[in-house]
Amino acid sequence: MPNVRFHPSRKSIEIASGKTLYEAAREAGLPVASSCDAEFTCGKCNMEILEGAENVSPQDEAERHLLQRQGRPVTDRVSCRTKVFGDCKVTTSYW
Ligand code: FES
Repeated sequence: MPNVRFHPSRKSIEIASGKTLYEAAREAGLPVASSCDAEFTCGKCNMEILEGAENVSPQDEAERHLLQRQGRPVTDRVSCRTKVFGDCKVTTSYW
């Protein structure tokens, strides 16, 4: 099972492969900004992947467009859209 680590809290959680970063953070007890309840419309749930970017689903054009539209770094990931398949480490600006 993939292990997701959260910086700077040092929390981590093992999740079933294919769950999203959003689900992992919520299961670990961390807040995730959202006004769309993970429906991939608000773009507020962005996270930066610090390690293991190769272990998550690739970014597509729709995700890149949402990040741009919301003024988020396009190198970030929309956590409710990003599935985890291996170990990774993530952060976001308000943790
Ligand atoms: S929670 Fe709104 S886009 Fe992810």
